[in-house]
Amino acid sequence: MTHILAIDQGTTSSRAIIFDAKLTPLASAQSEFAQHFPASGWVEHAASDLWVSVAGVARAAIEKAGLHAGDIAAIGITNQRETTLIWDRKTGQPLHRAIVWQDRRTAGMCEQLRAEGHEPMIAARTGLLLDPYFSGSKVKWLLDNIDSARDRAKRGELAFGTVDSWLIWNLTGGKVHATDATNAARTLLFNIATNRWDEDICALLDIPMALLPEVRDCADDYGKTRADLFGREIPILGVAGDQQAATVGQACFVPGMMKSTYGTGCFALLNTGGQMVPSTNRLLTTIAYRLGGRTTYALEGSIFIAGAVVQWLRDGLRLIRNAAETQGLAEAADRTQELVLVPAFTGLGAPYWRPDCRGAVFGLTRSSGPAEFARAALESVGFQTRDLLEAMRADWPDAAAGVLRVDGGMAASDWTMQFLADILGAPVDRPRVTETTALGAGYLAGLGAGLCPEPEEFARDWALERRFEPAMPQPEREARYIRWKKAVNATMGAA
Ligand code: G3P
Repeated sequence: MTHILAIDQGTTSSRAIIFDAKLTPLASAQSEFAQHFPASGWVEHAASDLWVSVAGVARAAIEKAGLHAGDIAAIGITNQRETTLIWDRKTGQPLHRAIVWQDRRTAGMCEQLRAEGHEPMIAARTGLLLDPYFSGSKVKWLLDNIDSARDRAKRGELAFGTVDSWLIWNLTGGKVHATDATNAARTLLFNIATNRWDEDICALLDIPMALLPEVRDCADDYGKTRADLFGREIPILGVAGDQQAATVGQACFVPGMMKSTYGTGCFALLNTGGQMVPSTNRLLTTIAYRLGGRTTYALEGSIFIAGAVVQWLRDGLRLIRNAAETQGLAEAADRTQELVLVPAFTGLGAPYWRPDCRGAVFGLTRSSGPAEFARAALESVGFQTRDLLEAMRADWPDAAAGVLRVDGGMAASDWTMQFLADILGAPVDRPRVTETTALGAGYLAGLGAGLCPEPEEFARDWALERRFEPAMPQPEREARYIRWKKAVNATMGAA
């Protein structure tokens, strides 16, 4: 038993990767599933799609690697965070489709709680803000809107979970109802200082605590899979939310190290060690990982639209056929045009937190064409990352000198990464393995199984593929960033 199965359940697809004991990826499988948009700003996933796609890719990856369940020492799970499910403990049936992290249906509820003055208490305990992004208001919405759900929850008949808990429940045949500290930290219900569910916040949102899963370490015993799933029981030994798994996969184990993952959105995490740094610049304080009962904290900046802006160029504007075309277009763009795109398609995340905003384009001329749009779209990702880093530097001056480690689909674009380094005025490091989310989950499971070394040794094996050094002259960098800030302010003003 020398291999690890990493499951990465993301927003648009489920993936499984088989790693050997040295954490070299051997085989992978991927499956996309339907996105449901039942109303404007609402986003849902069928709970069965999440589970069925995961079971399918896990089996496919084992087969592709030419292995059997008997070769797999452990499973590691990483997942889209905050997405909320409630199911019946007896039948395992979900009460509703999963409400996805992007869903804005509880914006009014959050606004009301903020107006009542609850945000400072919630922020101090959870590190989060009153935004529909997190699970808490979604759980409340489900209990408010499904007949007799709250009564049933009080009687202990129902279970709440983020996607990790839902997968663990199904993998173990309903034997284990658990989550890890990083996923718990995204629910708005978990006190990250005490590492316990917060009774006061649950009472405020009228959420019975009997719904909640047990919270464990990231490398811990999450039970064994049903024997009939893979032909043999396999232990589940690692769990972390996807951005935290990427932090581990990027070996950001030392305070001051930071990573940014470019998937649908962009999520930057700065390791702040054992220090829970409260943000005064509208970032989130969160748990980076919990190992051996010791919590390591992070400051996080979350942007909702990064790679999704390229999808918009492809599927919305039909300017490109595939993401790779953006690079050539951006290179060919007329540099004298100053198109600025604010991709607030689903509102603005950190550090603005404006769920009511929508996107805008500034500086259009008669010669603005596909190339200028492509360039503005890629640049918007760099500008938004700079917003996050500015806030991090203000919250935690030790972040000032930092190098940014990048991963995710967009990290493959040299043009985008060079612009990122230019606009940040800081080096951007791209690792040899950019599958860092799955790698992090695989590492945590391997650590739990005793196959992988301690973090320090794992960090020594992290290998750089390419460093992007800032090359833009400082006056140009600042002028361009000021133009971006003006565009964001105008966008917020128009909402
Ligand atoms: O917080 C949301 C995040 O975990 C989603 O990540 O990669 O599935 O878009 P991703």
